[in-house]
Amino acid sequence: MHHRWLLLLACFWVLFMLLVASKFIALTMRSPEGYGIRQGSLTVLPELEKMTVTEARKFQINGQPTADTLKNMTFIDVIQKERQELLRSICRNGSQGNRSHSAISKFVLDRIFVSDKHKILFCQTPKVGNTQWKKVLIVLNGAFSSIEDIPENVVHDHDKNGLPRLSSYSMADVRERLNSYFKFLIVRDPFERLISAYKDKFVHNPRFEPWYKHNIAPVIIRKYRKDRSEIRGGLQFQDFVRYLGDPNHRFMDLQFGDHIIHWVTYVELCAPCEINYNVIGHHETLEEDAPYILREAGIEKLVSYPAIPPGITKYNQSKVEYYFSKVSKRDIKRLYDRFEGDFKLFGYKEPTFLFR
Ligand SMILES: *[C@@H]1O[C@H](CO)[C@@H](O)[C@H](O)[C@H]1NC(C)=O
Ligand SMILES: *[C@@H]1O[C@H](CO)[C@@H](O)[C@H](O)[C@H]1NC(C)=O
Ligand SMILES: *[C@@H]1O[C@H](CO)[C@@H](O)[C@H](O)[C@H]1NC(C)=O
Ligand SMILES: *[C@@H]1O[C@H](CO)[C@@H](O)[C@H](O)[C@H]1NC(C)=O
Repeated sequence: MHHRWLLLLACFWVLFMLLVASKFIALTMRSPEGYGIRQGSLTVLPELEKMTVTEARKFQINGQPTADTLKNMTFIDVIQKERQELLRSICRNGSQGNRSHSAISKFVLDRIFVSDKHKILFCQTPKVGNTQWKKVLIVLNGAFSSIEDIPENVVHDHDKNGLPRLSSYSMADVRERLNSYFKFLIVRDPFERLISAYKDKFVHNPRFEPWYKHNIAPVIIRKYRKDRSEIRGGLQFQDFVRYLGDPNHRFMDLQFGDHIIHWVTYVELCAPCEINYNVIGHHETLEEDAPYILREAGIEKLVSYPAIPPGITKYNQSKVEYYFSKVSKRDIKRLYDRFEGDFKLFGYKEPTFLFR
C-alpha cells in the first residue's frame, strides 16, 4: 500500500521536473533579438548573428520558413535565391534593353577566368576584391601552393599564373564550360565602385600604371572638362562622370582598350542575363558570401578567402554624397541612366538622395 503512494509521488516529481526543464530549454533557444526564429535554425545557422535585422525580417515576411525549408536552407541560401530571382525577372522583362543585356563577346570571355581542375568560372569585376579571388583560383590551379607565395606582379600576368581566360578556348569548349561549370561574380554598389575606380586609377595613380594619368585622363579632360580655361590639373570626378554618362562614350572606350574594365557596367563585363551565374556575391556582404562561394564551389576544404579587413566592405553613403556633390544633377541622371541595369539586376537601391 505504502509504496504505491510513493511511486505516484515519484511520477509527479519526474513530470514536474520535465516541465521545468522544457520551459528552461525553450527560453534559452529563443534568439536574443526576438526574431522568432524556429529552434531548428539554430543548428544550421552559424551565420545568423551576422545577418542584419532587416535581412532577417525580410526573410521572415517573404520566406515564410517552415521547419523543412529551414533544415535545408540557411539564410544565405534564401538571400542568394532572392538575388537569382530578381536577376532573372529583370532579365526577362526586357524593358531595360541593352542596359541589362549584352552579347557573350570576346570582351566578356576575356573577363572570365577558368579553373578546369575544379570546374569553376569566375567573372572579374574590378574594384570588388577581385585580386583576392584570382589568387584563390591561382592556388587552386596549382601554379603556387599558397596565396602568400604569389608575387603581386604575377597575379595579373596570365602567361605566368596558370589562370587562363575563357577566351583562350575553342567555341565548343567555351560552350561546354559555360553549361557545366560553377560560375560566380561579385558586385557592389555601382556608384561606389566608380568612385573607387576613379580614386584608384586617377588620384592614387599607382606608379606602375602611368597610362591612366598620362594617356587616358588628358583625353577625357579635353572632351569633358566644362571650364575650358582650366585644362590643367588631374582628372576631376565631374569629368569622369560626364564621360561615363555620355551616350557616345563608346568612341572613347575604343581608344582606351581593356583599361575600361575598371568603369564599364557589370552587364558589359559579365553578361549576367546571358550567362547563368550560380552565385552572385555582394561586396557589402562579402564576409558571408566568400565562404558561401567556396562551399558552393566545393573548394572550402582546399583554400580559404584571405582575411577581410574590418569595415572595408560597408557601403558608405556619405562618401557617395561627397563625391557626387560636385556633379550636376543632369550629369548624375545621365550616369544613372547608363548604370540603371547594374542597380536593378543586383538589387541596389536607386540613389535618390543624389537627385534631390
Ligand atoms: C530538404 O532536403 C531533403 C533531403 O535532402 C529533400 O528531399 C527536400 O526536398 C529538401 N527540401 C527543400 C525545401 O529543399
Ligand atoms: C518591366 O519593367 C518596367 C519598368 O521597370 C515595369 O514598369 C514593368 O511592369 C515590367 N514588366 C514586367 C512584365 O514585369
Ligand atoms: C544601347 O542602345 C542605345 C540605343 O539603342 C545606344 O545608343 C547605346 O550605345 C547602346 N549601349 C550599349 C552599351 O550598347
Ligand atoms: C565614409 O566616407 C567618408 C568620406 O570619404 C569618410 O570620411 C568616412 O570615414 C567614411 N565612413 C566610414 C564608416 O568608413
